[in-house]
Amino acid sequence: MTLSPQFLDELRARTLLSGLIGKTTKLQKAGREWRACCPFHNEKTPSFYVNDDKGFYHCFGCSAHGDAIRWMTDQRGLPFMDAVKELAQAAGMEMPAMDPRAAEKAEAAKGLHEACADAAAWFSEQLNGLPGATAREVLAKRGIKAETSRAFGLGFAPDSRGGLKAALKGYGDPLLVEAGLLIQVEDKAPYDRFRGRLMIPIRDPRGRTVAFGGRIIGDGEPKYLNSPETPLFDKGRTLYNLDKAAPATRKTGRVLVVEGYMDVIALAQAGFGEAVAPLGTALTEAQLERLWRLAEVPILCFDGDGAGQKAALRAAHRALPLLAPGRSLAFVTLPQGQDPDDMVRQKGPAAFEALLKTAEPLVDRLWSSELAAEPLATPEQKAGLKQRLKERAESIADPGVRTEYLAEFRRRFDALYAQQRAAFVPRAPFTPRGGGARKPGQPWKAPPGPVGAGAKRLQQHGIDGVLTKPVLAGLLLHPTEICRHMGELGRLHLTDPALAHLLDAMIDSAVEHPALDSEHLLTILAASGFDIIAQDLLRADQLSCSFTQKDADPARAREDLDEAIAILVTRPEVDAALAEATATMQANYSDDAYERQVSLVNEQQALNARLANLVQSNEDARAFSTEGN
Ligand code: UTP
Ligand code: MN
Repeated sequence: MTLSPQFLDELRARTLLSGLIGKTTKLQKAGREWRACCPFHNEKTPSFYVNDDKGFYHCFGCSAHGDAIRWMTDQRGLPFMDAVKELAQAAGMEMPAMDPRAAEKAEAAKGLHEACADAAAWFSEQLNGLPGATAREVLAKRGIKAETSRAFGLGFAPDSRGGLKAALKGYGDPLLVEAGLLIQVEDKAPYDRFRGRLMIPIRDPRGRTVAFGGRIIGDGEPKYLNSPETPLFDKGRTLYNLDKAAPATRKTGRVLVVEGYMDVIALAQAGFGEAVAPLGTALTEAQLERLWRLAEVPILCFDGDGAGQKAALRAAHRALPLLAPGRSLAFVTLPQGQDPDDMVRQKGPAAFEALLKTAEPLVDRLWSSELAAEPLATPEQKAGLKQRLKERAESIADPGVRTEYLAEFRRRFDALYAQQRAAFVPRAPFTPRGGGARKPGQPWKAPPGPVGAGAKRLQQHGIDGVLTKPVLAGLLLHPTEICRHMGELGRLHLTDPALAHLLDAMIDSAVEHPALDSEHLLTILAASGFDIIAQDLLRADQLSCSFTQKDADPARAREDLDEAIAILVTRPEVDAALAEATATMQANYSDDAYERQVSLVNEQQALNARLANLVQSNEDARAFSTEGN
């Protein structure tokens, strides 16, 4: 069918836009225009205007803009042709006659549609009949109820080369080959494409079956066999379950993108009807556009494995040129080794719902992926990060969104290094106890990794390995601190037995002689055979901290030692609590357990950041004083 520009103009002219929009959106008269709270984004004060004279709507908040046809496609989610048909009918206009070639094509497509529908019916007959016993068992084992199976039109293709071919012989082989139902190799006789597989009909947005995915029963390759591209089926433009997800999306206001057919089906059964899946390929631009017609921020729920995360990142990059005000993506990462199907089955819908709440905005995903892409130890590498972030942002076509991304990345980049530069002023960067390095409102979760030589040791040896010796050396030099920290030191379990014994002896000495000075302590320890180990510690070749240097500012030394002890004592406790919380969550998922796990991870990261800060500020302080001399 060809629609002339004249026809479309006439259609627009005959459609009263405020009448059309007013059917679903409450409009208020505003001069010659109408005003409303924008139906395309969430707002409390109206910035959406409808102008009947011009035949346009426009939102000053989110830039949604269009005419009557756009309204039908973008707001109602109709395909273009359906939108035109519905408007034409309302306006009392006759749709133009098809040109003969288009008519012929439509007629052929009708045959293909019918063949696909009949194939789907035959497959589901097989599933419900004798040949489908094993397939039914597979479905039952996967927890798929009969009503779910029916809603998705699941079927079974028996392991035979001529079953479907015989059942649909009325269509003739050439049409069945064109529909992708039969395979023809050279000029040999065509035969059934799908054999011995669980059949999943793929439907177009109007709910018509256009293709199939066939999952092998049991193990084998390929796991899924899909219909080839046909006049009805364009893989890159199709989203599995779009027909049913679109109405569900209008209810929940969100759309979920998962990786597989079975994820969609399991989620629907668990009450998440708004899930769609690409068909084993990366998300295309066309699919992204489709998704944005359903929700401003589609949520990508990809597997936690390498492949899933790569696919998520590829989608993120592909989305950039297409972003618009309000239009973005969010990312949910499934626990390692689980897909949404596994998760709702094992942990239930509440667990999945909780996971959705953790969705990460696009900007965070991009930032953290670039941050993690390369090491950031040298100025060249830092400049590389800056460059990559800039290039990503510059691939955004929309000038408004691009500007915001450039500004946001710059802000994060500056904050990242400002934090480290601040550490050059001795004492200043010090995070008070319990504060952590992350200030409230700082936009990303992971604290920047530590840099410098001390930091390298930190990565290699962990907190215990880095802090234990300097702390002990510090206490040897400042024995009165032992009493001040008696409680904390008592909780400390050192992994090195020699150091653990030494600490015990130090505590004993301090208990007996509260006003002990360093020399006296060393004499007592030497008498118990700890002289070599104590002297070794005092050579201070581990970390040069304020509290291990005899000439350091005492107030600073004390403050640093407080912090070091606090970190050393708290870290194993947080680690243990986290291990326990993780085990609890794995055994029995609950929102509380999840929250607890997240908060412990944050605590752990905060401790890392505090240690990094301590190490860094001590290293810098030393550099500072060496430079000064
Ligand atoms: P998965 O391998 O993750 O499958 O592929 P799944 O959905 O979890 O399937 P089950 O749970 O093992 O049954 C995800 C999607 O990738 C496509 C399919 O669309 C599948 O749903 N795929 C996968 C293929 O097209 N061919 C394949 O061989 C494998
Ligand atoms: Mn699966």
